[in-house]
Amino acid sequence: MRTLNVHVSESRISRVVLESGILHKVRHYLAPLVEGRNIALVTDTRVSALYGNHVRKSLDIPSSKLLVLDVPEGEKSKTFSSINALATALAEKQFERGDFIIALGGGVVLDLAGFLASVYMRGIPYITIPTTLLSQVDVCIGGKVAVNHAGGRNLLGQFYHPQMVLVDPDFLRSLDQRDLKSGLTEVVKAAIIGDKTLFQRCEKCLQHPLRPQVNDHEEMIIRALHVKKRIIEKDEKEKGPRMVLNLGHTVGHALETATDYKLLRHGESIAVGTLAAAVIARRRGLLSPGTFEKIANVITRLLPGGPWKTVPDTAILDAMKRDKKKQLDRVPFILPKQVGKVATVWDVDQKEIQDALDEVRRYGPEDI
Ligand SMILES: NC(=O)c1ccc[n+]([C@@H]2O[C@H](COP(=O)([O-])OP(=O)(O)OC[C@H]3O[C@@H](n4cnc5c(N)ncnc54)[C@H](O)[C@@H]3O)[C@@H](O)[C@H]2O)c1
Ligand SMILES: [Zn+2]
Repeated sequence: MRTLNVHVSESRISRVVLESGILHKVRHYLAPLVEGRNIALVTDTRVSALYGNHVRKSLDIPSSKLLVLDVPEGEKSKTFSSINALATALAEKQFERGDFIIALGGGVVLDLAGFLASVYMRGIPYITIPTTLLSQVDVCIGGKVAVNHAGGRNLLGQFYHPQMVLVDPDFLRSLDQRDLKSGLTEVVKAAIIGDKTLFQRCEKCLQHPLRPQVNDHEEMIIRALHVKKRIIEKDEKEKGPRMVLNLGHTVGHALETATDYKLLRHGESIAVGTLAAAVIARRRGLLSPGTFEKIANVITRLLPGGPWKTVPDTAILDAMKRDKKKQLDRVPFILPKQVGKVATVWDVDQKEIQDALDEVRRYGPEDI
């Protein structure tokens, strides 16, 4: 078992426990926190079918205290109308301030259930059990919770931290290949930002077929979480240092928006964005050609296939104008300087972005 305490605002702590097999020991970890309380277990239909019964059994609380709330799987559930429906269910069951929400699922469920917890009665405690690699290495700490809005992705959100996070790499055994690769991209991102050893592990792991090797994953998850922990403890609300966690996300988010969140997994877009950032850094002389080569070798294995390459630059650049991190018409770019070191710059121009996208289109598989 490994643990990690993330110290956040107002002396709050998110306690992360990572252990293979936690799925069968949920009660052991949660009973001291939730004894006697109502619990809403929020999950999605797919995760519910795979793990709902196991978690309910392992939670072992009277059915009168448990409210199971499934939402349809996928990004389409991350809406205000889902929040409304879930809040109605909590209110009908007379949930009080001390009652708990448990989010069981990937990033969609964690963002949605976390946002619900943050607004219901001005905030009730929540616990997460992340089940995708992306949610285990990234989403589960940092407290960003949100739903989408017609005006933009994650437009309605808060910083609201879970009390406890239970990470079980065994969940990854049922994850499909694309979701696994999507999560690995965030691991590589964390490595480039702040952990050379983790980068070496990624180089090694990506030489082999992408089937879950639970031991590899445990190490990767804990190291990626440590990188994120160090950064968010310095800057909880993304006023400065936390921005580096957006490596690959300026172009990546724009590509996701330009493709209407339908074509690509989050990590696939971030792989494109991370390689584009590395190209820009190399062309500016910030990143040596040798280190660029190393980064490109790893990221190439995580790039999505063909269709994104036909998305016009103008669509990506237009979407970038709606970036939430834009200030005074400028969008921040995080550029790698070495493996383990990045810089934030505000003066990347359109031509540099277009040239980088041209170069990135020459990498990666033709088809999926
Ligand atoms: N809050 C943050 O800091 C943060 C950071 C990055 C991404 N996000 C958000 O996370 C979301 C993407 O997360 P995601 O990639 O986990 O997507 P997701 O939650 O949609 O999960 C992907 C798919 O995997 C399925 N699934 C989940 N666990 C499974 C398992 N163990 N076995 C088999 N299938 C499983 C889900 O049902 C879903 O179909 C986006 O909405 C993004 O905005 C949030
Ligand atoms: Zn991300």
